[in-house]
Amino acid sequence: MTGWTLGIETTAHTLSFGLVDSEGTPYPAASDTLRPDKGGIHPREAADHHKDVSGSLFTQVLEMHGLTPSDITTVAYSQGPGLGPCLRVGAAIARGLATRLKAPLIGVNHCVAHIEIGRQQCGCDDPVLLYVSGGNTQVIARLNGRYRVLGETLDIGIGNMLDKFARTQGIPFPGGPVIEKKALEYLRMNPEPSMEGLRLPYAVRGMDLAFSGLMTAAQRLIENGASLEAVCWSLQEHAFAACVEVAERAMAHTGKSELLLGGGVACNERMRTMCHEMSNDREGSSHAPPKMYCIDNGTMIARLGWLEISKRQTPLDESAIDQYLRTDQTPIVWS
Ligand code: ATP
Ligand code: FE2
Repeated sequence: MTGWTLGIETTAHTLSFGLVDSEGTPYPAASDTLRPDKGGIHPREAADHHKDVSGSLFTQVLEMHGLTPSDITTVAYSQGPGLGPCLRVGAAIARGLATRLKAPLIGVNHCVAHIEIGRQQCGCDDPVLLYVSGGNTQVIARLNGRYRVLGETLDIGIGNMLDKFARTQGIPFPGGPVIEKKALEYLRMNPEPSMEGLRLPYAVRGMDLAFSGLMTAAQRLIENGASLEAVCWSLQEHAFAACVEVAERAMAHTGKSELLLGGGVACNERMRTMCHEMSNDREGSSHAPPKMYCIDNGTMIARLGWLEISKRQTPLDESAIDQYLRTDQTPIVWS
């Protein structure tokens, strides 16, 4: 294959254009994330944001890598899952560019793209993926030609839980990184911390997870006088341990020895450490891609488009988005 594959990511608050070259080698994306001053994200507002910045961001990604539009020979986009209005903007941009550039179009599965950029970056072969983002929390493994979801959140994504808790404490979006800093401050003041008075509910439900109870209980701890730093530390310990426990059970059930982290919460150093410790205990290995490829990014979409394009294309009349696209709906036709 010659030429470059463009990847367009718009599942939620981030619009991102990324590229891979003809060998499938990833190049950093140009991204812009809507950060509301207060309150949560409204899907329509995010979609408007994506429309507003798409032109300048597309120019930016080409300039970053010294390319012109005619260098793009394939256009890939996130077809789902995600927020409908946001996905629709991405699909519209993709259709427009593919038509103008006379390039094949391919709609790809956002969750599978997180796995594939991780495999490419970390050199792991057949991992269990712990996908922890704002909207998604899933434990995924390859079985019989598809990525299967072995466990997932039954209510909100772990990142949304962290962001919502942060918002109740006056911390703006994204709250996850601030919670990480506050937890570290607590550890600096308390090198040997105790859970006494900071216990939170257990988030594991069989192979699934549930986080909203954790968030409410964390708020209650603050109301009862615990410091914000202490609660941030406890919240991370409880929420991450629950994810790691389900991931460990998935490794045990499937007999796989590699763990791969993906999604924005995979930027968290405490999460990374817990995964390393668990994998080392099992004599396995734990991997996490660079942070720019953990968070939502267009490059992972380009990478999956590049992997799939020799096997299929998305005709215009089948290019509608699928908000509820499941991880196991995409057959793995690449190696
Ligand atoms: P998806 O569409 O896959 O659900 P998303 O829109 O949530 O993705 P991501 O970029 O994957 O986007 O993840 C953003 C989330 O990651 C936010 O909830 C943010 O708080 C969280 N996050 C980012 N960095 C950290 C960190 N260091 N610690 C904890 N959470 C983090
Ligand atoms: Fe994502």
